[in-house]
Amino acid sequence: MVHASFTSMLAFFLFFSSGCATAPKVEDPYSFGVELMADSSPESAQNEGSSPATAHTAAQEIPLVGLRGLAAAYHLDFGVAVAFKALSISKYAQIVSSEFSTLTPENEMKWQYIHPVAGSYELFFGDQLVQFAQSHQMKVRGHTLVWHNQLPRWVSESVTTEDALLKLVTEHVSTIVGHYRGKIAKWDVANEVIDDAQGMRDTLFYRLSGTEFLSTAFRAAHEADADALLYLNDYSVEAINPKSNRLYELCKALLAQGVPLHGVGLQAHWDLDDLPSMSSVRKNIERFAALGLKVDITELDIRMKGAPTPERLRVQAEAYAALVRVVLDTEGSDSITVWGVDDGHSWVPQWMSSYGSALLLDGKYRAKQAYAAVVGELSNR
Ligand code: XIL
Repeated sequence: MVHASFTSMLAFFLFFSSGCATAPKVEDPYSFGVELMADSSPESAQNEGSSPATAHTAAQEIPLVGLRGLAAAYHLDFGVAVAFKALSISKYAQIVSSEFSTLTPENEMKWQYIHPVAGSYELFFGDQLVQFAQSHQMKVRGHTLVWHNQLPRWVSESVTTEDALLKLVTEHVSTIVGHYRGKIAKWDVANEVIDDAQGMRDTLFYRLSGTEFLSTAFRAAHEADADALLYLNDYSVEAINPKSNRLYELCKALLAQGVPLHGVGLQAHWDLDDLPSMSSVRKNIERFAALGLKVDITELDIRMKGAPTPERLRVQAEAYAALVRVVLDTEGSDSITVWGVDDGHSWVPQWMSSYGSALLLDGKYRAKQAYAAVVGELSNR
C-alpha cells in the first residue's frame, strides 16, 4: 500500500513547526534524529562547523560561478546530496539549484524513512526532493534501495526465510522504483554489499539469500523502470585494491547471469591523510568501464582531522581537482556527486569525530580553495 496523503501532510507540518522529523521512527544508529538536533535551524546550520572552516578566510572571496554549467560543457554531471529539511534555508536551496545538475536525497529514500512500517510507504519527502529537482532541471539519483544500514528493525524481526526476504525485496523495489518511474535517472540499487576484509558483507540479505537478493533487486528495478540506470554503490573501492577486486568479481558474476547492472558507484569518502593513488583510481575506473559499466563518483568528500590550515585546504583542493581530472580524462565516467552542499551540512563531523571541512563550501556557504580548483579543472582545458 502506498499512502502519502494525511500522514505526509501531518509530517510536513510537524517537520517545520517543531524542527523535528516526525514520520519515520528512528531505529538505526545512522540516526536522522541526531542530524536534526545538530542542524535543524538555519542559524545552527550556518554556525555548525564554521569555526574550523573559517581558517581560510584571509584569502580573497571566491565567487560561485555555477559548477553545473561548466561541467555540462564536458558532458559531466556535477551533483550533490541534499537534505530535504535544509531546502527551507533559501541560501542552501539557491546554491543547490545554481551549482549542481544532479540531486541525491541524502536520507529520504532509505528504507528506514521510505518504508518505515511493513506494507506502508512514506513517499512525501522523496517526492518533494524530486519535485525540487524537476523544477530546476536537475536529474535525480535514487539512494538507496537495499542497504543493511538505516534499515528498520521490523525487517529483521519479520523476515526469517529466503522466500520471505526475496518477496519483500521485490515488493520494496517495485513499489519505489515504480512510483518514481521516469523521474529518477539512476538508482543505487544496492549499497555497500562488499565486506571490508573478505568476501561479501555479512548482512541479513546475504545470510538468507547469498547473492540472490542482488539479482532479485536489480531485476525488480529494471522491470519497474526499464530506462533507469542501475548501480552497485560502495566505499573504499575507488582505487585498485582487494575490496574493489571483490566488487569487480561480483559485477562480472552478475553480468554473466544477465542481471541488469549498468554501473558502479564509487562513493569516495576520502581522508586527506590517506588519499588513494590517482593513477590507480584511473585504472580502476577503466577496468569497470571495460565490463561495459558506467562508473560514477557518488558521494565525494575529502575530510581532514582537526582545524583546517590554509596549507591543508590547498592540499584538499589539489585532491578534488585531481579526481575531476581523472573523471574528465577517463572513458565511462561522467558523473561526480559531492556528499553535501557545505561544511555545515556534512555528515563527517557527526560520524567521524574530530574530522570535518570535507566539502567545497565552508559552513557559511563560502567557496573554498577546493571549489576554485574544481572550477579551474572545468575551465581552460
Ligand atoms: C549518511 C548521511 O549523510 C547521514 O546524514 C546519515 O545520518 C547516515 O548516512 N554511505 C552512504 C550514505 O551510502 O548513505 C551515507 O549517508 C554515508 C555513507
